[in-house]
Amino acid sequence: MQHVLSVLDIQDQFRDILRQAQIFKKDHGEDEPLKGKTLAMIFEKSSTRTRVSFEVAMYQLGGFPLYLSTSDLQLGRGELIEDTSRAMTRYVDGVMIRAREHQDVVKFSIHSRVPVINGLTNLEHPCQALADMLTILEWKGTFNVKMVYVGDGNNVVNSLLLAAAVLGMDFTVACPPSYEPRPEIIKKALKIALKTGSNLEVTHQLQEAVKNADVLYTDVWVSMGDEETAEQRLKDLQAYQINTELLELANPEAMVLHCLPAVRGQEITEEVLNSPQSAVWDQAENRLHVQKALLYLLLKD
Ligand code: CP
Ligand code: NVA
Repeated sequence: MQHVLSVLDIQDQFRDILRQAQIFKKDHGEDEPLKGKTLAMIFEKSSTRTRVSFEVAMYQLGGFPLYLSTSDLQLGRGELIEDTSRAMTRYVDGVMIRAREHQDVVKFSIHSRVPVINGLTNLEHPCQALADMLTILEWKGTFNVKMVYVGDGNNVVNSLLLAAAVLGMDFTVACPPSYEPRPEIIKKALKIALKTGSNLEVTHQLQEAVKNADVLYTDVWVSMGDEETAEQRLKDLQAYQINTELLELANPEAMVLHCLPAVRGQEITEEVLNSPQSAVWDQAENRLHVQKALLYLLLKD
């Protein structure tokens, strides 16, 4: 049984998942390969894309998704996550969890009888990284590109660093001091990059970093759970906005990604988000296709 809590858990299957996603994107999974399978989806935080795409993915593959908000579960009244896992995983074939603390998802998985998928934690967002890489492949036809992330070194970036390393993609994170990705993730990514040849970099020199970029990526300055430090973050990250001026420093054919939801006027401008270089809606759509491929990998008989 396989859990997918990190990009590291699928490093050997990453390309196969993308290939399967391309197949599902064409045929929608019409022969219902997950007929009779159930997926519990536990949400401790808000979601639009993750919830809807997982729910539709299960339905289209012939399975059944259960949406569970922690506030409606006994978990919200203090039942242990371990006990929730022990009981719930006797009913269902798989579990997707969006949680505040990554460690809670780890605990859940330890006591689970079925595969567990990370639907975002404070540490990683592996399903997002799958969709991002599929979108780059579709727009650029190759992973032989230079991607530059601009802004807060958060959960999305942690997964992107690992995914870029796995695929041998060059990836630079441009962020203000003390907004770097997690050191343990950088270390793991660099170790993989030694084998795959990807050039990974974390820098505070934004303009320099963006030169020759084929892909520009950003995410919100205030992630879910960071609300208390919002005011400071907005100040510190102010210069790290993807706007037309910054985009002009990249390759003329550069594409722009954002995992969404976006805050226009903060990490990205309306103009860039709606420009022909923006791939964000394809990127959002691709959540559905990659998650179908992931569910197929983990849940099929
Ligand atoms: N990108 C993403 O995970 O979006 P949601 O928070 O809407 O699920
Ligand atoms: N970094 C953001 C991603 C939202 C999909 C957050 O964690 O809120």
